[in-house]
Amino acid sequence: MLTIALPKGRIAQDTLKIFEKVFKKPFVFDDKKLILETGGFKFLLVRSQDIPAYVLHQAADIGVVGLDVLEEQDADLTRLLDLGIGRCRVCIGMPKNKEFDFSLPEIKIATKMENIARKYFSQKAVAVKVIKLYGSIELAPLVGLADAIVDIVETGSTMEQNGLKIVETISNSSAHLVCNKNSFVSKKDEILALYSSIKEAIS
Ligand code: PRP
Repeated sequence: MLTIALPKGRIAQDTLKIFEKVFKKPFVFDDKKLILETGGFKFLLVRSQDIPAYVLHQAADIGVVGLDVLEEQDADLTRLLDLGIGRCRVCIGMPKNKEFDFSLPEIKIATKMENIARKYFSQKAVAVKVIKLYGSIELAPLVGLADAIVDIVETGSTMEQNGLKIVETISNSSAHLVCNKNSFVSKKDEILALYSSIKEAIS
């Protein structure tokens, strides 16, 4: 049996729809349940940032996770396939009425994605102070906590409705199928069979 960690929310629903298409049977979690065992698979509902930990420690063989989370955590997992769902961008945002002031000795950046932010600005040789937050990132520049943010943009409406503009796209993201390296050896046939049928279903 393969154990598959899914990120709670729309990506989990979209992934289960792919499984329904492949196996022609329903894959539905009962209300509030975090484990679904059906069709020879065990699915786990996990917070998206926790998916790499479940797969890395082999509590799950396979995970579905955004490229942004993989890059932020730099987890040692095998990337199998881009599922083409959960598309979003990692962007720099700031108040519409302001411009980047490179003369500041230190630009304050609020973000959930500290590593991506640090790497990006160090490549540009811009000195930043990174303030780690856990959510509602768009609030930070509105109340003087930060000059700008590095955050996920999906529709763009959160930035828009809070008077922020996108000043740069750092990277594009979508949900990927990833695999534990030991599982890839010990359950190779099962994993490759699943990989092939999912690849066919989404193409
Ligand atoms: C993410 C992200 C933005 C929002 C972007 O937050 O951090 O706030 O979605 O989506 P949009 O471009 O479609 O408006 P999430 O919903 O994960 O909530 P959080 O801020 O609590 O992490």
